[in-house]
Amino acid sequence: MGAKTKAEVVEYASKHTIEEKLTAAVNEAILSNSPDPLGVIAAILQRESAARGAVDYDLVRNEIKSLLENQLWDDGSLGPKFVRLAWHSSGTWDPVTKTGGSNGAGMRFEAERSDPENNGLMEGQAFLEPIKKKFPGISYSDLWVLAAYVFIEQSGGPAMEFTPGRVDHADENAPAMPPIGRLPAAEKYIVKGQQDEQGRAMGWEKLAMHIRDEVFGRMGFTDRETVALIRGATCTAAVTRRTLGMPVRGWRNRPSGPTSTPPTWLATTGDW
Ligand code: HEM
Repeated sequence: MGAKTKAEVVEYASKHTIEEKLTAAVNEAILSNSPDPLGVIAAILQRESAARGAVDYDLVRNEIKSLLENQLWDDGSLGPKFVRLAWHSSGTWDPVTKTGGSNGAGMRFEAERSDPENNGLMEGQAFLEPIKKKFPGISYSDLWVLAAYVFIEQSGGPAMEFTPGRVDHADENAPAMPPIGRLPAAEKYIVKGQQDEQGRAMGWEKLAMHIRDEVFGRMGFTDRETVALIRGATCTAAVTRRTLGMPVRGWRNRPSGPTSTPPTWLATTGDW
């Protein structure tokens, strides 16, 4: 069914019962000889539902917008949580083995969720669950990315074209599931409590190598891009606030509201 046009899929969908469609998907999965037959079935069904226009992404966007402000949560916005969810879902990508990445939404499963760097991201997923229930045709992997896009736009950042089509893994045995350890670990290789003659934490060179090569270099980012990314206020604001107890500043005071300060981290001219 993968090569069919949208019109053909719509025609097929309107002529066949769900039982017939499932049987066809199962047959295709068996014939594909894929090591992940459930993933093939899920892909076929999701593609069909997307092709039929079953998901109105503008409606999903509106739902996400209405969710962003939450005075009971943290400093009043779920936005940063959604940005981190989207980034951690993408930040496991390995172009060499073609494993990890946003596609699959593997963080729903223990195999990826249990990465200690993913602590706290279950909450982000849970907040989006009612939207997934309301729009079952959207994949989790698309929803997580779209939630971050909506927040970035809503908080004064650039409007980014959203391309749906990510397909969720059927289970944690999906071949593309990433191993634990692909996300940046802020203290990896650091020898706790020990400093060099310049007062730097022992192991800082190896930590720098981890961030540069093991994480961002692996995904193809240049040094410049890596520095820009990790120096972004997204990260520093959160880390500063959480770990050093410093006051919350700037856009984080009310990041998803229309009157919030435009986040300068997004307003880059590209001249960096
Ligand atoms: C060296 C790379 C990075 C490290 C070590 C790092 C580490 C962290 C840590 C430890 C937290 C606090 C987590 C918590 O307790 O809730 C955090 C939060 C956050 N990070 Fe990063 N991060 C990195 C890169 C990035 C990048 C590239 C982005 C965005 C693209 C990002 C976006 C965020 C956001 C939005 C939060 C706040 C989440 C919230 O408030 O719930 N981080 N980061």
